[in-house]
Amino acid sequence: MVLKRFGVSIPEDLLEQFDNLVEEKGYIGRSEAIRDALRLYISESQWEKGGDFVMASLNIVYSHKPKIMADLIQAQHISDAHVISTVHVHMSKSHCMEVITLKGSKGTITKLANKIAGISGIEYAKLFTFSLPEEEDFNHGHVH
Ligand code: NI
Repeated sequence: MVLKRFGVSIPEDLLEQFDNLVEEKGYIGRSEAIRDALRLYISESQWEKGGDFVMASLNIVYSHKPKIMADLIQAQHISDAHVISTVHVHMSKSHCMEVITLKGSKGTITKLANKIAGISGIEYAKLFTFSLPEEEDFNHGHVH
């Protein structure tokens, strides 16, 4: 990895806020925090642009009632997004949390996320999205 240096002019108070965050979050220095912020910005911009190379996790919390569970399963079965996995955690006597991992286009993932968030009884739904650069292949060439 080749590292490049560059100069940036920003308002003093903005830099001060940023430096406070850098310290709060425990970064060793400003550079790594800026790299993280840039990666996040790029990934979010790619998500905004759409495309077919998107992965996401949908985190939901609900009170487990048979109707909600049935609606949830139905929504996933008829979706055009690919449901890779679901992790179900029994949070308390009444509530469950699920993390649904998705792969697909921005459109199919958004549609499923909105549908699930709209199911009556889903109390919390938050989508985390991640776009891969187009040249990356989802299924091949990944070596552990
Ligand atoms: Ni449960």
